Amino acid sequence: MITEVYEKINKDLKEIDPEIYDLIVKEIIRQGEGINLIASENYAFKAVLQAMGTPLSNKYAEGYPKKRYYSGCEYVDIIEELAIKRLKELYKAEYCNVQPHSGAQANMAVYFAILRPGDTILTMSLNCGGHLTHGSPVNFSGIIYNVVHYEVSRANELIDYDMIRDLAIKYKPRLIVAGASSYPRVIDSKIIAEIAKEVEAFFMFDMAHYSGLIAADLYPSPVNHADFITSTTHKTLRGPRGGVIIAKKEYEKLINKWVFPGIQGGPLMHVIAAKAVAFKLAQSPEFKDYQRQVLINAKILAEELKNQGIRIVTDGTDSHMVLCDLRSIGLTGKEAENILNEVGIFVNKNVIPFDPQVPAVTSGIRLGTPAITTRGFKEQETKELAKLIALALKEPNKKDYIKSKVIELSQAFPVYKIYL
Ligand SMILES: Cc1ncc(COP(=O)(O)O)c(C=O)c1O
Repeated sequence: MITEVYEKINKDLKEIDPEIYDLIVKEIIRQGEGINLIASENYAFKAVLQAMGTPLSNKYAEGYPKKRYYSGCEYVDIIEELAIKRLKELYKAEYCNVQPHSGAQANMAVYFAILRPGDTILTMSLNCGGHLTHGSPVNFSGIIYNVVHYEVSRANELIDYDMIRDLAIKYKPRLIVAGASSYPRVIDSKIIAEIAKEVEAFFMFDMAHYSGLIAADLYPSPVNHADFITSTTHKTLRGPRGGVIIAKKEYEKLINKWVFPGIQGGPLMHVIAAKAVAFKLAQSPEFKDYQRQVLINAKILAEELKNQGIRIVTDGTDSHMVLCDLRSIGLTGKEAENILNEVGIFVNKNVIPFDPQVPAVTSGIRLGTPAITTRGFKEQETKELAKLIALALKEPNKKDYIKSKVIELSQAFPVYKIYL
């Protein structure tokens, strides 16, 4: 149910475009009724949504604070300066750029700043947890650059740092990339920085998944180790959809030039305002408590699924993410995603290291605890959820029972109380 308050605030939209209004309402209800375990998603802070839904969206502000190509930028200048100041404080960084429209564009800006077509980049293989923009053949990064991949060890599924060093010495990449979409463990940026130094390569750390945990000092920070750090702002950070770049001060001019005019036009000032709000909230003690609970919940989820006979990749987690190998219960990732979707638990199928299945099928699912923790799930609810997941996967005839339990759980922890 949508509240009267919500209807009143959105009266114009409802009248002008009932079709879109209805679909938004349906999506809000879907987000509220289901349980979201998609590791890359979260519920943004309400204040973040409020900053985004403003006339700041109307403003063109090509350029940077006090050096714009448009007039009337006096207020958006202050907003962008605040976002920059807060992001620098949050990560103890020397320089940052808050304009990238997305994580992919943050990565693109760094690549364009330091690489030329045909240059070699050394990145984690997608099969082992790397991201599309880390050299996938279907992405610009794999099309423009010569990509060499490092992998995790077959024995323990942890990053093989010796392999990174051997490949770096052999191929002399111009850039080494770390950071991942589905690697649940700590990544040692200090070792990779040393390797990069040895072979005179740049080092970029894409912290898109871990940025909230890093902001709360609960995951090792790549700042001071990597030359460039990129991130999204909408995952563990609970900000708006978007990207950022952090770097050493010496790269300020280069990176700024490659974000604008290099790859983007006008910055999204409503999103930059919302980023500023998220960076402020991420400095609060409550945010640290939240991230602590994200980690606790992820450990409980991994432990309980393991107790239920599901193999956990790397045998556990140091982050918000748990990767399950479903061969242990005779299912594919695709089958598991569909079964869980039917009972209102949202997850994504995911390749596991050295996956024998194609990416459209996979042997695994990736689970993440940021969204359920935002809702207020603690140890007890997470344990209950893990049991429901295992039951759904192992006993499909109990679907109706599980679905009713999922609704019960989600109703006890409403998202955005104003809407529902
Ligand atoms: C590690 C990593 N880098 C970059 C991105 C791309 O972010 P966006 O979807 O905002 O382009 C993602 C998104 O999932 C990611 O996981």
